[in-house]
Amino acid sequence: MSNKLVIFDTTLRDGEQSPGASMTRDEKLRIAKQLERLKVDVIEAGFPASSNGDFEAVQAIANTIKDSTVCGLSRANDRDISRAAQALKGAASSRIHTFIATSPLHMEKKLRMTADEVFEQARLAVRFARNLTGDVEFSTEDGSRSDIDFLCRVIEAVIKEGATTINIPDTVGYAIPELYGNFIKTLRERVPNSDKAIWSVHCHNDLGMAVANSLAGVKIGGARQIECAINGLGERAGNCSLEEVVMAVKTRRDYFDLDLGIDTRHILGASRMVSQTTGFVVQPNKAVVGANAFAHASGIHQDGVLKARDTYEIMRAEDVGWSNNKIVLGKLSGRNAFKQRLQELGVTLDSEMDINTAFARFKELADRKSEIFDEDILALVNIGEAISGAGERYRFVSLAQHSETGEQPQAQIVFTADGKEVTGQSDGNGPVDASLKAIESHVHSGAEMVLYSVNAISGSTESQGEVTVRLQSAGRVVNGVGADPDIVVASAKAYLSALNKLQNQAERVAAQG
Ligand code: KIV
Ligand code: ZN
Repeated sequence: MSNKLVIFDTTLRDGEQSPGASMTRDEKLRIAKQLERLKVDVIEAGFPASSNGDFEAVQAIANTIKDSTVCGLSRANDRDISRAAQALKGAASSRIHTFIATSPLHMEKKLRMTADEVFEQARLAVRFARNLTGDVEFSTEDGSRSDIDFLCRVIEAVIKEGATTINIPDTVGYAIPELYGNFIKTLRERVPNSDKAIWSVHCHNDLGMAVANSLAGVKIGGARQIECAINGLGERAGNCSLEEVVMAVKTRRDYFDLDLGIDTRHILGASRMVSQTTGFVVQPNKAVVGANAFAHASGIHQDGVLKARDTYEIMRAEDVGWSNNKIVLGKLSGRNAFKQRLQELGVTLDSEMDINTAFARFKELADRKSEIFDEDILALVNIGEAISGAGERYRFVSLAQHSETGEQPQAQIVFTADGKEVTGQSDGNGPVDASLKAIESHVHSGAEMVLYSVNAISGSTESQGEVTVRLQSAGRVVNGVGADPDIVVASAKAYLSALNKLQNQAERVAAQG
């Protein structure tokens, strides 16, 4: 059996299905480029049949990415599969991923199909996909709760039809590591042609065991592909976290003995990019990418690390992209210094125009904040729409607000709507409330705010505030993110960004609907 472990990233598909995590085409493209830099083997770019927006995003990624295989999801029907094939046409290397539910519960209650009907549909779907491409993945949705005899029958048939990867999802995060590992092992032993396909695991984190289950699927079960997402983004409690599973396999190579193609130095950049694009903040104590992941607070630990680093550190911070470069930039820093810092941070901007726009934003920030840290630079390029701001309906211009003890706060905001400058005014419970109501006085979105959070980007009161606003309207949920040293301005930018996303987001078909 091969020692190569395939890393299949589904941040842009399953990750994006997380309520509020929807991304624009340009945001997805930027993340796909970062995943390519990270050298993930397969990028699941989206679900082309779910909406025109998703189709276009998958198409743009397929036309751009050269070093990773680009994959599109489809239900097990000809229309979805054709749509995926069409979106992937320009890819250097592409994969169609088709799925159907196989558990008794899903077949009876959701699909309202008999097991024989599901069997037939799975077989025909793989046959159809295989006529369009040589790389076809088949997933048994809710696989971990499916009957093993039925799974063996379906899997044997789809491998005969040409499926090259067989994925057994733990769709609802119900599995237990040892049981799941043995389940995969038994399937591989019982399916007569199992050696003709690569076996894959796809675990959700409802019981906090997605990483453990994935590793058991590999170690006990013999799977050689792990499906995962940056920061563990995904439906409900999320997917298996890429950074954790990759660093587990790398750090414990003595145990797993598997080869990975991942360039782990780009992990932190990918984590920041995904968090700042979606507004899903990374908790400080999150393994590998949390702010405290390599911080030693206790005196005993600090003393130990100073004497011999491996007393308390099992991986090197710089191996996952943390830098100990403390050089800060300021308003006297030139374009070259800025460009070099971007490079050191692993940020590649597409054109000189994008660098110029980012540099202008940097100068604007440096006029208001004496020291610009790496975190500020990453926020500068990650937050908001694509760097050029193309496609935004609303853009922030300026804000004036007044608040004083014992008086009702007042705000006046100027922003552009479809390129025309408009002004809104309102009072409110506090300056943030007044500013957002001032925007609403003009926009009348009627959206309900379901989350508002503020996070200091670099830890001090001089820091920029990073604000996430989650809005819900007509069954759609979106997150907007804004950053500014003034948290009221950051809040207004986040609100406008969420309104832009509400405007852009088309109705979608859910992958597990
Ligand atoms: O969790 C799941 O079952 C999925 C499939 C569509 C692969 O995401
Ligand atoms: Zn999933």
